[in-house]
Amino acid sequence: MTILENAQKILEQINETKDNFQLALKSVKSKNDLESVRLMFLSKKGEIQRLFSVLGKLGPTDRPVVGAELNAFRAAAQSDFELVQQSLLTAEKIKDFDVTLPGRMPIVGSLHPLFQVLDEIKIIFTEMGFRVEQGPEIESDFYNFEALNIPEYHPSRDMQDTFYLPDGYVLRTHTSPVQIRTMENQKPPVRMIAPGKCFRKDTPDATHSPIFHQVEGLCVDKGVSFADLKGIVQAFAQKLFGQEMRVRFRPSFFPFTEPSAEYDFSCIFCKGNGCKVCKKTGWLEISGAGMVDPAVFGFVNYDPDVYSGYAFGMGVERIAMLKYGIHDIRIFYENDTRFLNQF
Ligand code: DAH
Repeated sequence: MTILENAQKILEQINETKDNFQLALKSVKSKNDLESVRLMFLSKKGEIQRLFSVLGKLGPTDRPVVGAELNAFRAAAQSDFELVQQSLLTAEKIKDFDVTLPGRMPIVGSLHPLFQVLDEIKIIFTEMGFRVEQGPEIESDFYNFEALNIPEYHPSRDMQDTFYLPDGYVLRTHTSPVQIRTMENQKPPVRMIAPGKCFRKDTPDATHSPIFHQVEGLCVDKGVSFADLKGIVQAFAQKLFGQEMRVRFRPSFFPFTEPSAEYDFSCIFCKGNGCKVCKKTGWLEISGAGMVDPAVFGFVNYDPDVYSGYAFGMGVERIAMLKYGIHDIRIFYENDTRFLNQF
């Protein structure tokens, strides 16, 4: 045989082996079948290696051409083989998978109960036409006290044990300063709520925490009356706790409102009949409210002869505790997942 005929013959054998290899690979059904294919074609004593061993019989011009062809075949065969191997493994895994086993629960995070309540509060008030405003947690003495008609040395500063910071700043003790900031930036009519963190030097116990959350409310327009305040607070209470909820106002004092009141919700635990939680009164204290003091309007250049307004506060923890029947405020901040997972 001439050299050329030799090359032709080996190329034919390569093509034949390619076809045989593909046929064998197609009929693989098991690991054993696969191993036979490997032994027959890809192993050291397999067909492909045998073809390499006859390369030596070719002349210097044909050898590289046929060699390249054979190398390409070997690489392609190897990768086709691995594909089949992979799909066999996957099929085996699926076969071994016990679909009757209980699934593994993914650990899903959830909104903190305080923020769930805050969201509800925000939704109720925005539906009633209030905007949500924000103010800084580090507040100047002016906004936290002065502009709310609480001058230095005023005894009502003692009502709030303040964290003082350098240069006349404080950690805000309530969200009321956002009233001032909002009125400074907007002309009436104003209808806003301001949710946020507040800080007081309180020793933690079941009902006190040095960090807590309030929602402030403010409405200023022509002809706003105390009746509007009562109506809004009543509507809010009923939307949050249900139609049977009643609200009462008691006279009180705050420097930034005149007249001032404290307001209570009827006890949600005994429906107002008297129980341990409401100390047999049938009422639960919520927070303070009142008509904006004309002196406060003076600080923001609103004309008290033209405009009137009401303001109210509320403690978010207090409301969340009532809503979920929680008896210790500290549990909100402990990050105990057994508690948090319930929400
Ligand atoms: N800022 C008061 C506090 O933290 C609560 C309060 C009372 C807010 C009366 C008001 C209000 O807007 O009118 O105790």
